[in-house]
Amino acid sequence: MSGDAASQAACETPFDAMARPQLPAWQELEAHAAAVSDTSLRALFDSDASRGTRLTAEACGLYLDFSKQRVTDETLQLLVKLARSAGVAERAEAMFRGERINVTERRAVLHVALRAPKSQQIFFDGEDVVPGVHAVLEAMGVFANDVREGRWTGHTGRPIRNVVNIGIGGSDLGPVMACQALRHVSDRSLTLRFVSNVDGTDFAEAVRDLDPAETLCIVSSKTFTTQETMANAGSARDWVLGALEDEAAIARHFVAVSTNADAVAAFGIDTANMFGFWDWVGGRYSMDSAIGLSTMIAIGPDGFRELLAGFHAMDEHFRSAPFDENLPVLMGLLAVWNTTFLGCRTLAVLPYDQYLARFPAYLQQLTMESCGKRVTLAGEPIDPAADGGYTTGPIYWGEPGTNGQHSFYQLIHQGTEVIPCDFIAFANSLNPLGRHHHLLMANVFAQAEALAFGKSSEQLVAEGCAEWLIPHRTFPGNRPSSTILADRLTPALLGSLIALYEHSVFVQGAIWNINCFDQWGVELGKQLAGKIVPELEATDEPELAHDSSTNALIRRYRRMRG
Ligand code: F6P
Repeated sequence: MSGDAASQAACETPFDAMARPQLPAWQELEAHAAAVSDTSLRALFDSDASRGTRLTAEACGLYLDFSKQRVTDETLQLLVKLARSAGVAERAEAMFRGERINVTERRAVLHVALRAPKSQQIFFDGEDVVPGVHAVLEAMGVFANDVREGRWTGHTGRPIRNVVNIGIGGSDLGPVMACQALRHVSDRSLTLRFVSNVDGTDFAEAVRDLDPAETLCIVSSKTFTTQETMANAGSARDWVLGALEDEAAIARHFVAVSTNADAVAAFGIDTANMFGFWDWVGGRYSMDSAIGLSTMIAIGPDGFRELLAGFHAMDEHFRSAPFDENLPVLMGLLAVWNTTFLGCRTLAVLPYDQYLARFPAYLQQLTMESCGKRVTLAGEPIDPAADGGYTTGPIYWGEPGTNGQHSFYQLIHQGTEVIPCDFIAFANSLNPLGRHHHLLMANVFAQAEALAFGKSSEQLVAEGCAEWLIPHRTFPGNRPSSTILADRLTPALLGSLIALYEHSVFVQGAIWNINCFDQWGVELGKQLAGKIVPELEATDEPELAHDSSTNALIRRYRRMRG
C-alpha cells in the first residue's frame, strides 16, 4: 500500500457509508417539510391543548420547551428516525470509547473524560485517561487555592491580586464566558482579565491599571504556537520584566496551560508551572480542562468541580436517554430541521441573564468552527445548490435579553428572514431587585409568544388600527423558538447548559456527516498572514506577488506608516 493509500485507509470511518439525502428518513423529511410548510403554529396550538406541555423535555435542571418550534408529532418521529439511521448513538459511543472520530486529524475526541468522576474508566489507546485528568485537577486545585489564599506570592513577596489569562479561541472564550457567568460565586478580591486579540490595545487596556508585582499571567494555548497568544505572552513578559527587572520574576508571574511542554520551556516558563492536557481535547471543547485554570482561580476548586459535575450529568443524559427525551438530541435535530429542511440560515441564542452575556460569543466558536463544513467525512462535497446537496452549520449569534429587543428583534419579528431563537432564562435571579426579575421574565415569555403567534390584520382592525398602517403593524408569527428554563445559574447548571450545546453540535455533525472536530478553515488566513508580516516589516520595498488589491493595500499601508 502506498503512503497515501495507507493514511487514507487509516482515516476511513465506518460512519459515512450512505449519503444523507439517500436515507429514507431524509427523503421523508423533505416531503414532510413541503407538506407542513403552510401549517401555522397557531393552528398547531389550537388543535392540541396539551402541546405546550407535551413538546417539552427535562434533564439536569434544564426544562426545554420546544412546542413553539414548527414541528408536528410526525416531524419529531421522522427526525428521530433520521438520527437513528445516521448512526448518532453509534457515533456517540465511538466518541465515549476514545476512537479517533476526528478522522482528518487522526484524533480521539474525549472532552467527556475531562468531567468523568474518578470511578469512571475511559480508555484511549488502551490506557484509562481518567486518573491523569484527576491528577491535573488536583494540581490545579492546589495552585488555585495557593493564589486565592495568598500563599502564591509574586517575585517581591506581594500576594497575587490580578490574574491575566492570555489565549485565544478555545483558550479564551470558554474561560471568559464562565468567569463572567459565575461572577456571583467568584472571589471578588481578585481581578480577572482576558487578553486574546493581537491588537496591542487588548493587552494595553487589560493591564493599564494593574501592578505587575501583584499579577499572575496564565498563558493558555494548546499548541503554544498561536501567533496572537505568543505575541501577547511576549508583551506580558516585557511588561513584567520592565517593572520587576529580574528574569527570576518569570517563575512567579507566569504559568502555562498547554499540551506542548517543549514550547512552554522555550518561552521561559518552568514546566513545573505548567498544567497539561491532551491531544484528544479540542480547543473549543477545552474550557473544562486545565484551560479552565482562570475559572478555577475565580470560583475555587469546589466550584470548578461543581461545574464539571454539571457537564458530566449532561454527558450521562446524552448517552442514556431515549432520543425523544434527550435534550441534546432534540436540540440538534431541531437545528437540522430548521437549517436543512426549513431553510433558516441563522439561529439566535438569547440568554435572559446578564451573567450569560458572553455565552453567544462562546457558542459561536463551538458551533461554527464545528459545523462550518462543506464536505462530508469522506471528502464528498455538500453543495446545497447541487442535486442531493444540503445546508450545514447555521450562523449562531445573539445578545442578552432584554437589550436585543431594542436592537435586532425588529428583524426577527418582521424581517424577511426566519430566525429560530433559543431563549434561556432562570426562575430565580441572583440579584433580586424589586420587580426586575418579573419584568425580565415577562419579556422572555412575551417574545416567544409574539414570535409564534404574531398579530393578524383582523386583530389590528378590531383594535381600530388605521387601514394604511395595518401592513406595517402586522406580525406574521410562525417564527420558531425554544425556551430553556432553569431554576438559577449555578456552576453545575452552567456545566449542563454548555454540555447540552456541545452534544447538540455532535448530533448536528453526525446527521450532516461532517467532521465537527477539525478546523482547517482557519489555516489559510494564518499562512497568508505569516507571509505578509515580513512584507510589512521589510525596510526595503518588498516584491509583492499577491493579487492587485492585496498588493495595493500593503503598499498603501507601508506608505501610511512612512
Ligand atoms: O482558531 C483556530 C484554533 O486552532 C482554535 O480551534 C483554538 O481554540 C485556537 O486556535 C487557539 O489555539 P491554541 O490553544 O493552540 O492557542
